[in-house]
Amino acid sequence: MNEFYKKDIITIKDFSKSQLETIFSSTDKIMQLAPIDRREICKGSTLAYLFYEPSTRTRLSFESAMASIGGSSLGISNISNSSTQKGESLADTVRMMSIYSDVLVLRHPLDGSSRFAAEISDKPVINAGSGTEEHPTQAIQDLFTIKKEKKKIDGLKIGIVGDLKYGRTVYSFLHALGNYDVDVHLISPESLRIRNDSTYEIKKKLDFTESTNIDEYIDELDVLYVTRIQKERFPDEEEYLKVKGSYVVGLDLLKKMKSDSIVLHPLPRIDEISTDVDKTPNAKYFEQAEYGKHVRSTLLGLILNENGF
Ligand code: NCD
Repeated sequence: MNEFYKKDIITIKDFSKSQLETIFSSTDKIMQLAPIDRREICKGSTLAYLFYEPSTRTRLSFESAMASIGGSSLGISNISNSSTQKGESLADTVRMMSIYSDVLVLRHPLDGSSRFAAEISDKPVINAGSGTEEHPTQAIQDLFTIKKEKKKIDGLKIGIVGDLKYGRTVYSFLHALGNYDVDVHLISPESLRIRNDSTYEIKKKLDFTESTNIDEYIDELDVLYVTRIQKERFPDEEEYLKVKGSYVVGLDLLKKMKSDSIVLHPLPRIDEISTDVDKTPNAKYFEQAEYGKHVRSTLLGLILNENGF
């Protein structure tokens, strides 16, 4: 039996290095399969998505991933059109969705929402973003992208810049990187530094420096992971305006970086990477989004098939 069969994906902390590597090699395998063979992997299975927050890539990549392996998707992407509007609880909505599907993908503004859903659902639950806490499948996609583009993860110097306080992808990314031998440099405005309460465990596995100055290690980095300032999580607009536009990755910054360094971003990008970076060989964020689809096909294939694929 494959170890991911019927498993929830709630936190990246549950994944060991060897499990991540298994997912990466299965993703390589799925990318090489002919479309006709891919469509056999989850033929007849149904994914249900339940998104209480906006999404473009995560939801569509799950849908596209499921379609490419022969399954179908149904769900709620706009809760104002659902019975939530009438006052139905998350618990009841999850219970219903799990009746109509084989796997449930949830995005919700509250920390702990996915774990709560997993306790209620009798089908596996995949966390597609829980508050400011975690976004585990994004981290798997981020590490897979690094592996594909840099051919390794161990030994790399990685800068993470932007909103380190509210960005959930950052926490999942850091926990995942904790399985590897990497140097991490965190760069953020003072008010958006990484949350101490959430890094207690990360610190046991990973060494990182913290700075407000993006230039400090820029010439050493192999990977620059850029994040959006999470406007919607700020308690007030004024605080957001103070840090808006703090860092903009443009061609001038790229010139200071190693020629073979790569720039990643979980997207959506607002103004933190200028669009003229898009056409440089260093920009890998659109590839990263594409890898996300293949990684998600792999995860669904492993969760839904007892013997893998
Ligand atoms: C991220 C998220 O929702 O946490 N988006 C995504 O899933 N790719 C990042 C963000 O919204 O900035």
